[in-house]
Amino acid sequence: MKKHKPESIAAQALGFIDDKTKEIVGQIHTSTTYIRDADNQYRNGRVYARDNNPTFEQPESVLNALEGGHQTLLFASGMAAATAVFQALNPGDHVIVPKVMYWALRNWLKTFATRWGLHITFVDATDLAQLRAAIKPGKTKLVWIESPANPIWSITDIAATCEIAHAAGALVAVDSTVATPVLTRPIEQGADIVMHAATKYLNGHSDVVAGTLTCARDSETWQRIRSIRAQIGGIAGPFEAWLLMRGMRTLFPRVRVACVSAQKIAEHFSTSSMSAQIAEVLYPGLPTFKGHTIAAKQMQGGFGGMMSIRFQPSATNSGEAIAIAVAAKTALWKRATSLGGVESLIEHRASVEGEGTPAPPDLLRLSVGIEDAQDLIDDLTQALVFAHHQT
Ligand SMILES: Cc1ncc(COP(=O)(O)O)c(C=O)c1O
Repeated sequence: MKKHKPESIAAQALGFIDDKTKEIVGQIHTSTTYIRDADNQYRNGRVYARDNNPTFEQPESVLNALEGGHQTLLFASGMAAATAVFQALNPGDHVIVPKVMYWALRNWLKTFATRWGLHITFVDATDLAQLRAAIKPGKTKLVWIESPANPIWSITDIAATCEIAHAAGALVAVDSTVATPVLTRPIEQGADIVMHAATKYLNGHSDVVAGTLTCARDSETWQRIRSIRAQIGGIAGPFEAWLLMRGMRTLFPRVRVACVSAQKIAEHFSTSSMSAQIAEVLYPGLPTFKGHTIAAKQMQGGFGGMMSIRFQPSATNSGEAIAIAVAAKTALWKRATSLGGVESLIEHRASVEGEGTPAPPDLLRLSVGIEDAQDLIDDLTQALVFAHHQT
């Protein structure tokens, strides 16, 4: 059969047609239990819905095809997926994680994972020499990276990280939430596990919390991850799994529109007359951005929909006060946390992350949606003009 392009795979959910009903949209399966055969066997392979649910299978297999993986598992949230990877390790194992990463996972690592007995080294993952130096031969079991990484969009060289980690016998897991399989396929670059907060771009409509893990190949670690999901029960509900599949059908056009708009917005605010009031636009698509060359190598077709803007202080106010005033004054950009939905969001990230955040206080994080790009530019411009005059 002809191998279709990822866009076609996503749009048609791998060409799904129900054998019995001929429906082209899968159903929501709500049963928590399954009939045993009369001779006490479970030949259909399903026993109880904490372990699995047929509604998961479609989003899992579509994402698996998009990532080029061996197998994909759906979880209750991005955090449920990410923490399953660390829980699959043994107390005493050493892991390397980036200093710039999704803040709630960083907090969990610093609290729960250390109590679990993991030894954690935080590195600047954009600096391969630091990464290499952090490896403890025989002890380092996992290198976790995120690219682009929240909230300053640091870019980590996935292929180079894999080379370093694999030479030391460590696995590499990539939080690819922001890149999505539209722009980056970490397994092709050597990664062992890819994680998504499916809550974000994969679903894309800010109405589902879910997470995924995709493995490059079967392994003892992957089998442990499978049994963690089955035993702890960090599974998505059937309705969420169904909604996620519905959202994933439009993943490609959503991400492409967000990339084009984000590039336009980033270029506008780094070069327009407003740029005197802006300290820095952080966006991997700008040639002046620190990780741009590596981003261009490992991201195909765009640089994502996430960016941050840092504001200059005014004669009377700090950059932080201006940033907060700008967020207060936007109308089209919605003042809310999260990212990757069809609607654009704006957020003062340091207030959310608190102590230890790499987000400077003068920074706003922007998740670019699929509205008209000029509308988004105009809304941000009026907010910025207002904030400068008001503060
Ligand atoms: C990059 C990244 N990874 C992981 C997560 C966690 O996902 P969830 O909120 O679904 O648990 C998030 C959530 O914001 C995220 O942005």
